[in-house]
Amino acid sequence: MGLTRDFFILLSQNKVLNSGAKRWGLKLGAQSVVAGTSIEEMVESVKKLNAKGISATIDNLGEFVFEKSEAIEARIQILAVVEAIHEHKLDAHISLKATQLGLDIDYDFCLANLREIVAKACEYTIFINFDMEDYGHLQPSFDIIDELSKDYTNIGTVVQAYFYEADDNLKKYKDYRMRIVKGAYKEPENLAHQDKKEIDQNFIQLIEYHLLYGKFTSIATHDHHIINHVKKFVEVNNISKGKFEFQMLYGFRNELQLKLAEEGYNFCTYVPFGIDWYGYFMRRLAERPQNLNLVAKQMFNK
Ligand code: FDA
Repeated sequence: MGLTRDFFILLSQNKVLNSGAKRWGLKLGAQSVVAGTSIEEMVESVKKLNAKGISATIDNLGEFVFEKSEAIEARIQILAVVEAIHEHKLDAHISLKATQLGLDIDYDFCLANLREIVAKACEYTIFINFDMEDYGHLQPSFDIIDELSKDYTNIGTVVQAYFYEADDNLKKYKDYRMRIVKGAYKEPENLAHQDKKEIDQNFIQLIEYHLLYGKFTSIATHDHHIINHVKKFVEVNNISKGKFEFQMLYGFRNELQLKLAEEGYNFCTYVPFGIDWYGYFMRRLAERPQNLNLVAKQMFNK
C-alpha cells in the first residue's frame, strides 16, 4: 500500500494507536498543526491569530468515543472552551463532531450532550459548527441538527463535495451558515466521487450555489486554484465580502492565510487542540503525503 491516502486513513482509524497517542503528548510533527494540549495554550494561539485579523473555529479534538464517561468528559471540555471564548473575548466559535459527544453510544445521550453545549453557547451568542464525518454518521448528524434547530439558531454545518448527495444536502441546509469542503474520509464509489477532478468540479458548483443563494458561506480549502476561482466569482457576481469567509487548518499555508486576511477577506483558521490529536493528524497525512515534511522537520529539529 505504501505511504498512500488509504494507508494513512487506515492508520487514522486504528483505535489502539489512537488511544496510545493520548499518552504520548504531541508527537510525529503534530505540534505544528495542533495548537497545544491545554485550553491555556489554545487561547494564546487564538489571541495571536485574532491580533492578525484572523478569526478561529476551535476544535477540542476527539473521536473514537465509545464510553459514556469519555463523551461526558468531552462535553465538559467543550463547555470550558465556550467559557474561555466568552471570558477572553476571542473572535472565535466552536467546531465539534457528534461522535465525540456519543453518537456511536446512544443517539439521545449524544443529543442531550450537544443540546447542553449549544444552549450554553447560545447564551453567549457563540456559534457552533457541526463538522461532518464519514457517511455512516452523516444522516444521524443531520437529524441532530434538525432537532436542535427547533430551539436554537447558532448552529451551522458542513457539506462534503465528494458525496453524490452533497447537492441535495446543500440545498436543504442553504439557510444555515455552511462550511463547504472536499471531504476527508474514505468513501466507496457508490456514495462518493473518487476522481479528484470530479470532486473539485462539484466543490466549485456547491460553493457558487451557496454564495448566490445561501446564508454565510465558509470556503474551507488550501487549494489556491479554488480560492482564486472564488475571488473572481464573487467579483463578477458582486457578492459582498461580508457574505463569506475562507477557512484553512491551523499550521497549513500560514502565509496564504495572512495574505487573504490582509487583502480584506474574512479569514477563519480551524484551530484543533487537545490530547486526542492522532486521527486528525493521520487524516492530514492522508490528504497530502507532503505533510510528512512536517514530521521530518520535527524529527530533525530536536
Ligand atoms: P487538496 O488537498 O485537494 O489540495 C489541492 C491543491 O492545493 C494541491 O494540489 C496543492 O496545489 C494545494 N495545496 C493543498 N494543501 C497545500 C499545502 N499544505 N501547501 C501548499 N499547497 C497546498 N473534511 C470533512 O470531511 N469534514 C469536515 O468537517 C471538514 N472540515 C474542514 C475544515 C477546514 C477549515 C478545512 C480546511 C478542511 C476541512 N475538511 C473537512 C477537510 C477537507 O475535506 C479536505 O480533506 C482538505 O481540506 C484537503 O483538501 P483541500 O481542499 O484543502 O486541497
